[in-house]
Amino acid sequence: MSGVLENIYKRASLKNKTIVLPEGEDKRVVKGAVDAYKEGIAKIVLLGDEAEIKSANPQLDLSGITIINPKTCEKRKVYAEMLFKAREGKINRKTNLPEYPTVEDAEASILKDYTMFAALMLKNGEVDGLVSGACHSTANTLRPGLQVIKTAPGINTVSSCFVLVAPDGGCKYAPDGVAVFADCAINIEPDANQLADIAISTAETAKSIADIEPRVAMLSFSTKGSGNDDKYFQTVPKMQQATIKAKELKPDLILDGEFQFDAAVAPEVGALKAPDSKVAGKANVFIFPNINAGNIGYKIAQRFGNFMALGPVCQGFAKPINDLSRGCNAEDVKAVIAITALQA
Ligand SMILES: CC(C)(COP(=O)(O)OP(=O)(O)OC[C@H]1O[C@@H](n2cnc3c(N)ncnc32)[C@H](O)[C@@H]1OP(=O)(O)O)[C@@H](O)C(=O)NCCC(=O)NCCS
Repeated sequence: MSGVLENIYKRASLKNKTIVLPEGEDKRVVKGAVDAYKEGIAKIVLLGDEAEIKSANPQLDLSGITIINPKTCEKRKVYAEMLFKAREGKINRKTNLPEYPTVEDAEASILKDYTMFAALMLKNGEVDGLVSGACHSTANTLRPGLQVIKTAPGINTVSSCFVLVAPDGGCKYAPDGVAVFADCAINIEPDANQLADIAISTAETAKSIADIEPRVAMLSFSTKGSGNDDKYFQTVPKMQQATIKAKELKPDLILDGEFQFDAAVAPEVGALKAPDSKVAGKANVFIFPNINAGNIGYKIAQRFGNFMALGPVCQGFAKPINDLSRGCNAEDVKAVIAITALQA
């Protein structure tokens, strides 16, 4: 196991948080949750029918795990009322009708979609974090959180990042052994304000999950005005504005831009192209102009650079929610539980 992951498990255990996993029907989720509990990483609430979960996982000892069946849980009325109130007046874009016309509609909906049931438990303070997505799409996993948990104070954008762990033997340009890339999975074409939010949230994730002091580079194909794309998408001025905005919002954050990737990580290039910058040549957090750049970038580090990619880690929610990949295994589930506990 990598030292970074070991450190995440160790710090998560000290927090003793409770994480809800609404996909009790998925064996990988149940195994990952049981392992996390047995290793002291977090307390666990699984949603689903207890008898079905037990008979589907006869080899697992489920003692100590709380199992709640939303269909018989008395609190479902409370949650239905909460959902109805939180979404009152909202129109479903597909049907052009109210999302939940009545409390009864809200109740029927949380019994169909346990991720929303779990999000309401989180909103109500009964658990500290939510992990889902082993058998739901990213959009269906995040939407309940976007609708009822909303964003953290001072942040208007939920985003995601990958924590990239350097291969054995290290990497000259990642002296901390880790780098954090964002946004690689949620915001498709963020504007300058959203990029400033993404930078601030990613710096927070770098501290809380990667356990490093963030030095944030706002990335571009241009360094400090060396290039422009005025005739095309105007991403250079967008990254320049995002840099100004993020500095205004968080004056203490070590953040600068816009930088090409080499000016951000290579001391010799940083010294040449941005000699007065505190970030050039030593960045460890990288904010990409859009999801294309971010997603392609982290996969290059993973495949060509042999970095291990942990994530996507969701950030910016008022309370932590994380999305599992549908190809996940029980080890991944355990890691995401630990990451979520650390964000709580
Ligand atoms: C995140 C995502 C799922 C949201 O999609 P959506 O549910 O269609 O979002 P909507 O535009 O209908 O918005 C729903 C609510 O969430 C809010 N919201 C949407 N994206 C948000 C964000 N990034 N941050 C904060 N709030 C957001 C909206 O303001 C809206 O709030 P409201 O209903 O209270 O007014 C969408 O951005 C997405 O699909 N991103 C790409 C995901 C992807 O394919 N990733 C690839 C994985 S590698």
